[in-house]
Amino acid sequence: MPSQIRMAPPYCRAMRILVLQGHPRASFSIAQKALSAATRQVEGVTARDLYALYPDFNIDVATEQKLLLEHDLIVFQHPFYWYSSPAIIKEWEDLVLDFGWAYGPGGTHLHGKHLMSVLTTGGPETAYDEQGRNRFPIDALLAPFNQTAHRCGMAYLKPLVVFESRLIGSDALVERVEIYRNLLEGFATGRNDPRKHLAKNYRLPEGYTRKHGS
Ligand SMILES: Cc1cc2nc3c(=O)[nH]c(=O)nc-3n(C[C@H](O)[C@H](O)[C@H](O)COP(=O)(O)O)c2cc1C
Repeated sequence: MPSQIRMAPPYCRAMRILVLQGHPRASFSIAQKALSAATRQVEGVTARDLYALYPDFNIDVATEQKLLLEHDLIVFQHPFYWYSSPAIIKEWEDLVLDFGWAYGPGGTHLHGKHLMSVLTTGGPETAYDEQGRNRFPIDALLAPFNQTAHRCGMAYLKPLVVFESRLIGSDALVERVEIYRNLLEGFATGRNDPRKHLAKNYRLPEGYTRKHGS
């Protein structure tokens, strides 16, 4: 018997990643288009363009729920619109995260999974400050996503934000896209431990710790 048994890290296995993209004017996109290209470079990522799939907002709830069951990390990737997401992401949440399935009695299907927001903004980082023109830090504006993850027993990961995405220039954009690609690859291979990427001050919900330990 070895005198010391090496403990495996609490959660560090390859994650299957589902990226839900929502850009209502994809043909005019620069920043989101670049981020979407990165998702295609990582094995183990399923990327879905929600506006292309559901131009009439007729979201196929059964298909979306089946996909959620098949993945460990869900990414909402979208431009920041009026301090939130474009409408299809909200519609997706309203229909897919159903009572008795995602929360409430018997609503345990998402327990132990992970949610991350990947955003592009028009405004610079300095605007997202009490003294700035947008008055609130981006983390505060993302509270509904953070709390939705918590209510569904998921870990909410630190958001990846490309600030001032139309003005930063192509070199800086390429740099941010590479950070995204590398992050996804780290999660897809198990190199990244999601617990080390939790959003600031995020307290893991019981549904998550019951699955993975606290
Ligand atoms: C309807 C609309 C609302 C927007 N709201 C915001 C916002 O609240 N905050 C912000 O920083 N940028 C806002 N923007 C700017 C977009 O976030 C930005 O143009 C986009 O992320 C750039 O990505 P793209 O090149 O993929 O279109 C808004 C743009 C539009 C068209």
